[in-house]
Formats: sequence, structure tokens, C-alpha cells
Amino acid sequence: MTKLNRRVFILSGLAAAGAVGLPHLAGAATAPSPRAAGDPFQLGVASGDPRPDGLVLWTRLASKPLDIGGGMGSAPLDVQWEMATDEAFADVVASGTETATEADGFSVHAEPAGLPAGAEFFYRFKQGTFISPVGRTRTAPAAGTDPGSMKIALASCQHFEEGWYHAHRFLAADEPDLVLFLGDYMYEKQSGRDTVRGYVDFDEVDKLDEYRLRYAQTKLDPGLKAAHAVAPWLTVYDDHELANNWWGGQSGWPDDRKSASFRAYWENMPLPKSMKPTGPSIPLYRRVGWGTLARFHMMDTRQHRWEQAPNGDCDEIHRTDRTLTGAAQEQWLLDGLAAGGSKWDLLGQQVFFAGRDGDGETGSCDVSEDAWDGYHASRQRIAQGWLDRQVRNPVVLTGDVHRHWANDLRLDYFDHDAPLIGTEFVTTSITSTGQPGSSDPPPDYVQFNPHLNYVGNQRGYVRATITGTELTAEFVQVSSVVEPDPAKVTSSVSRRFVVEDGRPGLQDG
Ligand SMILES: [Fe+2]
Repeated sequence: MTKLNRRVFILSGLAAAGAVGLPHLAGAATAPSPRAAGDPFQLGVASGDPRPDGLVLWTRLASKPLDIGGGMGSAPLDVQWEMATDEAFADVVASGTETATEADGFSVHAEPAGLPAGAEFFYRFKQGTFISPVGRTRTAPAAGTDPGSMKIALASCQHFEEGWYHAHRFLAADEPDLVLFLGDYMYEKQSGRDTVRGYVDFDEVDKLDEYRLRYAQTKLDPGLKAAHAVAPWLTVYDDHELANNWWGGQSGWPDDRKSASFRAYWENMPLPKSMKPTGPSIPLYRRVGWGTLARFHMMDTRQHRWEQAPNGDCDEIHRTDRTLTGAAQEQWLLDGLAAGGSKWDLLGQQVFFAGRDGDGETGSCDVSEDAWDGYHASRQRIAQGWLDRQVRNPVVLTGDVHRHWANDLRLDYFDHDAPLIGTEFVTTSITSTGQPGSSDPPPDYVQFNPHLNYVGNQRGYVRATITGTELTAEFVQVSSVVEPDPAKVTSSVSRRFVVEDGRPGLQDG
């Protein structure tokens, strides 16, 4: 059996097979519990935010996923979970019960603790007589230990209407140790393009029930379910989880819409209970270590930023007090970098970091005001922070722009001889903007910005292997997002780059 076939077997077949035994799940129920009206596990299972001794196990009950309320009624329901070291659940190492409530959209965020570090586990849920699919996950290596290597995948931007999630099936077949989802998990608006499938109801969502329904429909895709079930995810949002290009605390988006968006985001992601929002804010930025090998600084580049500068307004763009991160998050990041202790420091974040000037002129500001180019001083403080703190290998991991990019980072992007100080990998969309046209040329940016080594207009994801000596990244493309039949879709590597330990910048791999 191929890896992918084996995984599909695990995800579909073992759930039913496991229902025969289930000594632990059956034993965990001490009293009769209300039972869902139909299979409540149609949105799949997920795990996230791995630590050396714990992580988050997620599911969200929905017997009728495309109905408001998910067909779950209003009564709380007990959900049992168990974790084992084997796929047959012979060696169960942790189990428990969570209560799913209407107030939390019937989401479950179980947080097993006291687990062994750097270990693989399998998990599943039970509600009444229903058993969930089986997921695979792992804890992070212990602090101070060297895991030798790790495999990660980067994904972002998956407009449900604009394509089939074939990329996620290939990502799942890679069986990475960790998946970083870098924003635009779903879109608040319908597509204006040719579509392969439609959102139910609603033009633009802005209420909690509508956001919940949008996530539910997104999660019905089997490719996405497979990717969630194969590895722990670290997720951050971008703009479309709330509204296009939203920014900061005092933006034009009302508090009740922000509250609804953040609440639905937490309910639908494998995030810990400690991140559950109680109003129009969510504590999103956080750090996950992978022994002495790597640290992932997951950033929030929406909630704390200033408003985007007016188009081409150099005076505003170059203001030294402009911020994309907010002061608190910037200090948190710089303090974390100063702590050292890991070979690779990876910033998981949403918007394009490298300079990307449309005309190559220093006197104009032909840039994307929504990206770091529009927050010049904010980017400089972080880049200078790498140098001041002697960060060994800073690597920025980015989504948002629906293109693959590989970029060398400098302090001054107009000085083409300035030393390289870091590296950026930008993952393209899973589906957003749909099937690329063969006539679509690369953006003009490339000719004015020699630090931009590669741009690819494809749909797909990035996979990378990190070791003590190098980081190897592969830009994966899928042959089609409009072909519905998975058997007719292939994946391939469009480019491969290597970053050597202690030597910033891209080498051909
Ligand atoms: Fe997007």
C-alpha cells in the first residue's frame, strides 16, 4: 500500500473497525449521555499547537453540517477522546471526556497533558455510539534535545469555491511532522471568478452562525480532512477569516463582527482553550519550539497593525512609528529571538516580507501597502533585531499572495550588493484564484528586485525538511484545481532551494 492509500485507509476504514473493541472509550462513559441525531464527526478531526508534553485534539460536532446550528440542537453532549501509540488503539496512553456546547459551536478542544516528548500518537473521539475517524499527531521534542530533522508543510489561501483541495491530499501523503497554515482558511465573500463549487447561502458572512457555517462547508472537503488528520497544525489567520484587508483595533469593522469572526476561528481550529476569545480580540501570536532544532514564532499581522497607507504615499509608508505588529508583539518577538537556543528561527506569518518594488525607483513607493513594504520601519526593526541578537538562521514563512516566491532578505532592498540577512519562503494558494492561465506572466517585480529568486503562478504548497546543517524547501504544484477526480490530478516540484546553516539566502537545491 502506498503511504497515501495507507493514510486514506486509516482515515476511513479504521474508524469503523475500531468501533468493535473500544475498551477505553466504552469504559470512560459512566452514565448514559445524550446522543447526536446522526454522525456528528463529518467535519473530521485535527490536532494542533504541539508542546513537549501535550497538544490540542480537536473536533466539532455537526450531524447536518450545512444547516445553521449543524443539526446539533441546544443540549450539551459529552464527547470522549483517547490517544494511543498505535493505530489499533491497543496501547492507550491518555483519555478523557469533554462537554460540547452550543455556545462553543459544539467544538471540542481536548488538551491531554503529561505526554512523552517527541512521540507519535493516534487519536479518536466518541459521541454516543458514533466513533470519529482516526487522526495522527505528535508531541514536540523535549526542550534542549536535538531531534536531528523535521518535515514541515506550509499552506494558505483555500477559497472553497475556486478549486478542489487536491493539494491537501498530497500534503497529507508527505506525512509532515508539522503543518503551518498561514491564513485565508476560508473566505468571507463569494468568489467573483469561475468556480467549481458554491458556498451555501449568504453573500458576505458577518454573523457567528454564518462564519460557523462557512467553516463547516470548507471542512467537508476530504482532502482538507486528510491533511488535518495527518499531523498537528499551527494556524494563524489572515484577513479573509474576518474581512478583506482588515486591520487593527480601531478599524471600520464593528466589534460584534470581530467577536463573531474570532470566536468562529477558535471554534474551528485546533487551538488551546487559553486562546478562546471572549470579545473582539484573540490572543493569537505564540511560539512553539522543536527542541534545539527550530522555533516557530507564529505572528498576528492583522489585529495589531496600523491602517494601510494610502496608495503610493511615501511619507506615510516611511513614518518611523508605523507598525504592522503592534509594540507588544514586536517586543515579544525580539525578546524571543534574543533567548536563542535553537538553530532555526522561523516566523510563521501572513504578508509578503521582502521588499517588492514595482518600478525599482527609490523615490516612489510602488508597493503593496498591505504587506511589510507598507510598514517599512516595522520591518526594519525586526530585520535589525536579527542582526543585533545574532539570530543564526532567520527564515520567514509567508502566505497571502497566491504565488510561490523564494526571496533573499536584506536590510536595504535597493542596495543589491548589501549582505543577505535572512530568507523568505512564500507558499502559494491551495486553490485561491483558481487554475492558473498559461499566459499569466510573472509579475514585473522580479526584474527590479534581484533578491526575488523565484516566482511561480501555481496552486499547491511548500514542503521543507529542516536539519542541523540545512533547510531544503520544495515548491509543490498540483496539475489542476478544477478537475474533480483525484485520480486525474498529479503533483510535482517546480523548484527546490536550500538554505545552509549560518549562511543566509537561497542556494539552488
Ligand atoms: Fe488569499
